[in-house]
Amino acid sequence: MSRLYAISGVTGMTGNELVRQILTEDSEDHILGFDNFYASSIETVSDHIDDERFEFFEYDVNNAQQMTDFENRIRKASRAYDEVVYINCAAVVHTEHFYHVNETFETNVLGMKNFMEQAIRVGAKKYINCSTSEVYSMNSWNEDGGVKESDYLTMSVAEHSQRTSYATGKLLTEFFMKDAVDEGKILGCSIRFANVYSKDERYPKHIIPFIINSFKDNGKVVLLENSRKNRRTFLNNYDSCSAVLALMNTDKALDGTVYNVATDEELSIIDLAKLCASKMGIDDPVIEFSGYRESDPERRLLSTEKIRTRTGWKQAVSLSQGLDECISNYLAL
Ligand SMILES: NC(=O)c1ccc[n+]([C@@H]2O[C@H](COP(=O)([O-])OP(=O)(O)OC[C@H]3O[C@@H](n4cnc5c(N)ncnc54)[C@H](O)[C@@H]3O)[C@@H](O)[C@H]2O)c1
Repeated sequence: MSRLYAISGVTGMTGNELVRQILTEDSEDHILGFDNFYASSIETVSDHIDDERFEFFEYDVNNAQQMTDFENRIRKASRAYDEVVYINCAAVVHTEHFYHVNETFETNVLGMKNFMEQAIRVGAKKYINCSTSEVYSMNSWNEDGGVKESDYLTMSVAEHSQRTSYATGKLLTEFFMKDAVDEGKILGCSIRFANVYSKDERYPKHIIPFIINSFKDNGKVVLLENSRKNRRTFLNNYDSCSAVLALMNTDKALDGTVYNVATDEELSIIDLAKLCASKMGIDDPVIEFSGYRESDPERRLLSTEKIRTRTGWKQAVSLSQGLDECISNYLAL
């Protein structure tokens, strides 16, 4: 089976690892990918930039003309492959952008919808929608093995903070996905990732690169006041991508519904900082607190029973191993 992949946001954390996992040495698949470099650079795919199985375009998912060109290229290339698969990774993602309602709506909701309609027009078989664990909002955990995809949500609203606009937009995309599958237009699913990190992150915006780079550059880390209590799990981007491919390879699972993808290695942010420090050889780390984030749940613990039972996916990279790789990469920069 040969596949043609259309990947948006391909130089981002998820997209670039997908390129590596799809284009293995003996793979006959082909990828057409694009990114507008909003939060990434071409460096992340440097290992495949000369691979004739990979074609990159500096395009914006919100630019109609560029998307028409991309659609035409997919149509033309698709004749040589058994199946066309769309994976939508383009999004405004980082926490600092969660408050920018218009920007996140345009890219995360309209961009997702337009890209899915393109997939349907070209006759793609599957569409994978990257959603987020943020949709669980204030009820992000329970004492019963973690929140499930079918649990009801308790969302913070504009009365509390604009922050939840990111989650609300992503939640809406899950309905578009479900509708397209129910209408028989395409196979697909939405994936709620929780706190993805990567050894290749160049911008220390997420908590793991932030902590490691703070210790490296300033000898201390300044965390939000929320971190005195907050606990999180962290998902290596190797595992987030292997989950995407596990779902993509399981037609039965592509019923339009939602899948949690996370680990159960939960720890407090303070313990995460201490663990990073000890791995960096810092015995008595300086941890300070400043700033407060409204509507940030104290815990985020997801049940991954659904994806594990339906696809056999499981975590391959432990937090300890992932942190070792991050530290060695960031310290080398
Ligand atoms: N990183 C996480 O912790 C996390 C958690 C839950 C869900 N997700 C979701 O997973 C998906 C992938 O995110 P990621 O972790 O790879 O983040 P990322 O920021 O590394 O990648 C997103 C990519 O989209 C690109 N992009 C942004 N706007 C664009 C536009 N208008 N046109 C074209 N490209 C654009 C960015 O430049 C970036 O390369 C997103 O849908 C995100 O919401 C991520």
